[in-house]
Amino acid sequence: ATTTDGETIDVLVVGSGIAGCAAALAAAREGADVLLLTKATKPDGASTDWAQGGISTTRGNPQSLKEDIIDASDGTADPDAVDVLVENADDAVEDVLIDTLDVGFDESDGDLDYTREAAHSEYRILHVDAATGTHILRPFLNYVDDHDRIEVRQDTAALELITAEGRVHGVVSDREGSRPSDDSSGERRDRSEGLDEANGEAVNGQRPGEKTPNGHPIYAGATVLATGGIGALYGCSTNPDDATGDGIAMAALAGADVADLEYIQFHPTAYAGENPFLLSEALRGEGAALRNGDGERFMEDYHPQGDLAPRDVVARAVETERERTGEVVLDVSPLEFEADYPAIAEKCRSRGIESDEIPVAPCEHFLCGGIDVDDRGRTSLDRLYAVGECARTGVHGANRLASTSLLEGLVWGLRAGADATGYEPGVVEAPELLDRDPELPERFAAEKFTRLTQTMDEHLGLERNPDDIARASAVLRRLKGEVDAYIRTRTARDLYELRNASVTALLIARAAGENTESVGCHYVVDDEAPPA
Ligand code: SIN
Repeated sequence: ATTTDGETIDVLVVGSGIAGCAAALAAAREGADVLLLTKATKPDGASTDWAQGGISTTRGNPQSLKEDIIDASDGTADPDAVDVLVENADDAVEDVLIDTLDVGFDESDGDLDYTREAAHSEYRILHVDAATGTHILRPFLNYVDDHDRIEVRQDTAALELITAEGRVHGVVSDREGSRPSDDSSGERRDRSEGLDEANGEAVNGQRPGEKTPNGHPIYAGATVLATGGIGALYGCSTNPDDATGDGIAMAALAGADVADLEYIQFHPTAYAGENPFLLSEALRGEGAALRNGDGERFMEDYHPQGDLAPRDVVARAVETERERTGEVVLDVSPLEFEADYPAIAEKCRSRGIESDEIPVAPCEHFLCGGIDVDDRGRTSLDRLYAVGECARTGVHGANRLASTSLLEGLVWGLRAGADATGYEPGVVEAPELLDRDPELPERFAAEKFTRLTQTMDEHLGLERNPDDIARASAVLRRLKGEVDAYIRTRTARDLYELRNASVTALLIARAAGENTESVGCHYVVDDEAPPA
């Protein structure tokens, strides 16, 4: 069934991290009316809010940052894309973060303070202690929310792209725009309730036995996906649960090109205990040291840059030393830890860590690949853009340099938002999402999600081997088949998130299986291969 009911907007942005906010801002500055949809009900639904270390600048030396990015990527980053990043970096930071948002970056002696992270040859990273993402995103969200031309609609998911003849015309969302954007309780909804008490409408496809048109088409002149990464696909991630690969799955299902999905970056230093959290690379940049279970520093044995080697190298070394010596700790005793990193110190206290030696392990952190885009964030589909972690710009190649993700989101968000203006929204037939078939097994989505994350953890982690990848693909294909049996009959958001996660996971498994070369984050071990 299809429908042509719905609302229209010049530019639709999906996602509320730095890239989505930047796209919305740039489009509004060009005179477009913008609707920004976000599943989140609080800023920390976006990975940007979780970013610690900082945002890289070039500090007037773009060539040096370019070289570091390409070296960290093992020579695989696209030099033209890196040029776009480094040539626009300082202006974007100054214009948006400093002049427009007045982000309170740390200073020393009255000047901006620059820190350093792994594989950076210079101190060039702006930061607010090591809670930089929060200090950027919150003013940014406030700014776009207050902007006359931008509406921010929280607690609203895009379920499907609306497409006709290779052109994208917007999305079908799971919520209409009549509700104010600030009415959430700040908690994720209990989806089993199903009815919105405020207006009596079915909001999430939970009304049994009825065929209720429940999707809400939003037609846009251009659509910008800024949906973030894939943290929810792994048991351990430094990202929020909302990161279910939505944009990547929706774009791929609509026929957009995706690339480099096998390059999933694992951060070497997440807390290795209950409820893991990130211990920023900035700690090592300022002198914290990795030690193995024998109390020895080991990184010099793995790479000439020691503790500040590229992230993929450190992550694998940490895992090897954990297996060999029982544990790896980050020794923060050389730092003024409490004074200089209060947010991380507070997290340590909340987990009962009292020592200067914090147990660490690698944990999923960032997807280097994604929806393939050009230097303005344009995908292979007309009027569809992708920015931020869901996009593959080519900047990161097979392994991303620290503190370039916020920068990439900012630079590409601004470029895509400006480019996405000037198109009339076209009203075409949109899929009418119906609610029927009430017999969805209880906890279906939650249980399948657990199977998915176990499969990813086991077979598509730091090291992969061809047999494991094939096994993972088989499990994920079955899982996607089970989800497909229910999708389009229920508009429940968790079901769509599961669909998106399983599509994205399958694409990752396919990319990993097709790339037999170990490079950057994609490390292939073949247990069956005869010793060389
Ligand atoms: C960190 O603070 O270690 C993470 C920075 C990044 O991923 O760029």
